[in-house]
Amino acid sequence: MKITYYGHASLGIEVGGKNIIVDPFITGNPKASGIDINSLKADYILVTHAHGDHVLDVETIAKNTNAVIVSNAEIATYYGSKGFNSHPMNHGGSWKFDFGKVKYVNAIHSSSFPDGTYGGNPGGFVIEGEHKNIYIAGDTALTYDMKLIPLRTELDLVILPIGDNFTMDVEDAIIASDFVECDKILGYHFDTFGYIEINHEESIRKFFDKGKDLMLLEIGESIEL
Ligand code: NI
Ligand code: MN
Repeated sequence: MKITYYGHASLGIEVGGKNIIVDPFITGNPKASGIDINSLKADYILVTHAHGDHVLDVETIAKNTNAVIVSNAEIATYYGSKGFNSHPMNHGGSWKFDFGKVKYVNAIHSSSFPDGTYGGNPGGFVIEGEHKNIYIAGDTALTYDMKLIPLRTELDLVILPIGDNFTMDVEDAIIASDFVECDKILGYHFDTFGYIEINHEESIRKFFDKGKDLMLLEIGESIEL
């Protein structure tokens, strides 16, 4: 499994021979100006919730690629009614796709579309790939529900928001990584705008002091699991 960071909460995942884009917000992020969304490959687009900083480039990428948009029922229906391919899910449910198994799990946040359309309840995704399992938390507060994840899935990587203000901060993300029993963390949802700027060195050290590895990728950088 290869994971590429496209800035903010946007990710590319290569798994089982398929390309997945998660929460594409690239053209609206000046820091991601080096990424050409028209060159992105996607068989699937996973959307955690409907906020603009997670859905901005969904339609462009879906038009370019014919990707299947996977999200909660309300978001999937919203895109389905516009003619896009979509797959609706809801909390606690899993589906076996051709690249692996995806479960939609709880997040504590909100989820309206930028135009005010109801975007269902926000979530995160647990992806069980061929060899590796990851949890993408989406925008969320720290929640006890995270403790349910390792009861079913042994994680190799957890992707957590760490920017504070709209989501968890670093301290809560450390607790979240305890809850999901995974010491390898990719941080996201930081630095994009003023409210969520973080001190990188201090954040990495705080995780390190608890025996955990926080990775902060450059935009466009990838890791291989
Ligand atoms: Ni949000
Ligand atoms: Mn967000």
